[in-house]
Amino acid sequence: MEGPLREILSNGKITNFGRYVSAFEDEAGAYVGAQVVTVSSGTLGLVLSLQGLGLKRDEKVILPSFTFMATAQAVLYAGGIPVFAEIEEDCNLSPSDLDELLKKHKDVAVVLPVHIYGLPCQVDQIREVVEDAAQRRGRPIHLIYDAAHAFGSARNGRRVGGFGEAETFSLSVTKALVSVEGGLVSSRNQELIERIRRMRNYGIEQNYDAWWPGLNGKMSEFHAIVGLYNLRRLDALLAERQRKAHYYLDQIRQRTNFQPIPLPKNVIHTFKDVTVLVPEALVARRQEVMTFLGERGIETRAYFYPPVHEQRFFQRFADRPLPRTEALARRVLTLPFFTSITESEMDYVVDALVEAERALGVGTLR
Ligand SMILES: Cc1ncc(COP(=O)(O)O)c(C=O)c1O
Repeated sequence: MEGPLREILSNGKITNFGRYVSAFEDEAGAYVGAQVVTVSSGTLGLVLSLQGLGLKRDEKVILPSFTFMATAQAVLYAGGIPVFAEIEEDCNLSPSDLDELLKKHKDVAVVLPVHIYGLPCQVDQIREVVEDAAQRRGRPIHLIYDAAHAFGSARNGRRVGGFGEAETFSLSVTKALVSVEGGLVSSRNQELIERIRRMRNYGIEQNYDAWWPGLNGKMSEFHAIVGLYNLRRLDALLAERQRKAHYYLDQIRQRTNFQPIPLPKNVIHTFKDVTVLVPEALVARRQEVMTFLGERGIETRAYFYPPVHEQRFFQRFADRPLPRTEALARRVLTLPFFTSITESEMDYVVDALVEAERALGVGTLR
């Protein structure tokens, strides 16, 4: 990384689509098997994808409530109305609930599932449900994925990046592929990619002449250098993350009553987060579990609680209960996990989970 950094500092080509942004787009595109455009964040990638596909003001967009609020913020920013869908036990969008929503709301313009934590959605079922609804209606419904967590993920040998009409990635620091801040949009639709290229550059077509709506959504050369460096070692990072996450989850399964989220076979998972469910008996006491772990130096999060439809800004779009989302959001516990975590650090966390169960009165293991 040092050579390229010295190079751009000495030649002054530090932004405005230099060779590193271009190389990053080419190599990320080759990796996912689609065209790729860089943007300044995952959130902006979502906004531009929605607008690039022609979302009109007050058109409906179906998305899960169990996600980071950026997914829903992007929908509102792009002018859409969020319609919150239910999830399944794997914490990803439920194809059957999607089917019901599409039957109930005849005017949905876009479906926006999220590959949560890096676990790819049930992409074939979702595609079928969306295609059936579009056929019933006699006009297209767009399908794009929020793949913020999922650069490098795959399901049944197919990499995330090629599903739906577009997928958007975040490259911020908690992700498996990091450019510090930044995002990518991938698509096989050349026209959409070209539109987003212009939209992220003030709408300029050529020679400072704006033909399109646009803003500043550029990625700098600094960020592209970091992204490229990490992309080139991504397969090694992912292999290490798979190995370590499986060790962690096996220990948790064998030694505690905390439950890993179901993991289908034939999946490459970025494990953006290792999230487990607290034992039934401790659901109402999750905060005590977190405090207990915190006192032992173990930082945890509850990703994703509160679910978006319960957040103050989004409550006005909550027009029905989402029982599974509400229940799972109250059970999730996200444990420390990063590529360089050691086995003894993971053992330390699992020991603390065992102690927490004992201290809070859940007997030892089954
Ligand atoms: C599911 C999801 N979507 C979108 C985003 C937004 O990405 P960014 O922070 O790069 O704007 C995030 C951020 O972490 C996210 O978790």
